[in-house]
Amino acid sequence: MDKIIVKGGQTKLQGEVEIEGAKNAVLPLLAATLLASKGEVVLTNVPILSDVFMMNNLVDHLGTSISFDQEAKKIIAKANSEIKTTAPYEYVSKMRASIVVMGPILARNGQARVSMPGGCSIGSRPIDLHLRGFEQMGATITQNAGYIEAKADKLKGAHIYLDFPSVGATQNLILAATLAEGVTTLENAAREPEIVDLANLLNKMGANVKGAGTDTIIIKGVEKMHGAKHSVVQDRIEAGTFMVAAAMTQGDVLIKDAIAEHNRPLISKLSEMGVNFTQEETGLRVVGPEKLKATSVKTLPHPGFPTDMQSQMAAAQAIAAGESVMVETVFENRFKHLEEMRRMGLEVDITRNTALIQGNSNLQGAAVKSTDLRASAALILLGLVAKGQTTVRRLSHLDRGYYKFHEKLKALGADIVRVKDEDGEE
Ligand code: EPZ
Repeated sequence: MDKIIVKGGQTKLQGEVEIEGAKNAVLPLLAATLLASKGEVVLTNVPILSDVFMMNNLVDHLGTSISFDQEAKKIIAKANSEIKTTAPYEYVSKMRASIVVMGPILARNGQARVSMPGGCSIGSRPIDLHLRGFEQMGATITQNAGYIEAKADKLKGAHIYLDFPSVGATQNLILAATLAEGVTTLENAAREPEIVDLANLLNKMGANVKGAGTDTIIIKGVEKMHGAKHSVVQDRIEAGTFMVAAAMTQGDVLIKDAIAEHNRPLISKLSEMGVNFTQEETGLRVVGPEKLKATSVKTLPHPGFPTDMQSQMAAAQAIAAGESVMVETVFENRFKHLEEMRRMGLEVDITRNTALIQGNSNLQGAAVKSTDLRASAALILLGLVAKGQTTVRRLSHLDRGYYKFHEKLKALGADIVRVKDEDGEE
């Protein structure tokens, strides 16, 4: 595996950066292609990420034949009149997001057999809300030998109230409801932009989904679905990560085609810290101040502050003047990056899901390892401003969600390289 070496110091990031299509949109979009029984779904603006290759392999294994033109960032998913019922362990165990193939399989075949997704470093990540929703739509759920099995002669529309606005559960239940008999209402549904993107594709494929982006989504079941063309929505978390990079380095960066609407809480918090935003013709210009002011953040489901920006924002709080507070309310164990940042001199007190961060402008570069996808980016951002050299290992996490991350930072002026890691871990 590789490692990234970044030299901190006086780098002020300057220039323009292009943002890829959203990882957290394209994965459910690929699962949605399983619902078409004829035609082709053509996805453009597809990000080239390891998670996309994994979902491609699973969807292709299930029967929708996938061809991925990486040059053109385009996927053609050719529908199959039949799809398999089992999503095997070797696919699902590698990526928990695979669980969203369960809804389409159940909708198409009246049964689904999906390997239990593993937990992961940020929490146990159960799927009880997914399964309870399927049961309310008439499926019987059993579990054996590490597989979840769902059976329903024909899924029936139901009125489902989600205890928590789970993104995955909302996606899985929308997917299942598109071919169910009758109307399904999802209350307290997730409102993320990726849910809207999924509903847009499904409606192009012949489904009838209304209310995506609000907390009540109504899906009228249809008989069949067909091919469509769709461009993947821009990745608001990659865009947000570069906004924080500019903020931390007194930078002046234009985030091309950024959708400010998708990052309201982040923009509001960074503005509180002294960052300047200007909407321009070709994108959003982000200018970082001489010194960031401390601020308090609490992560919440959309439209609240996104948990996927928590570690990057913590890196900004680490160098801000004064004491900041970070409260993580979405996942139960998403502060591991703070332990790694302590190695760089971060002073932080952690009590359950609350971190008190003492801003410090004398952080020192160190050897650190990333603990999850977003933590990787956060550690690299901190390395941009810490004195000396920071080495970040376990880049397999980074490659799941960021395309050419170090190259994009280098193009903005960062002193950063990615090299083979002879004595590194994975
Ligand atoms: C999606 O995960 C994203 N992943 C995550 O992004 C993101 O952090 C998360 O939504 C929240 O925004 C993808 O879209 C592939 P949830 P998901 O279901 O769907 C609990 C990244 O870095 N919960 O909204 O798994 C769960 O334990 C990744 O790109 C249940 O209790 O998130 C968690 O505490 C990380 N029961 C909370 O809800 C359930 O049945 C949020 O989970 C489902 C979830």
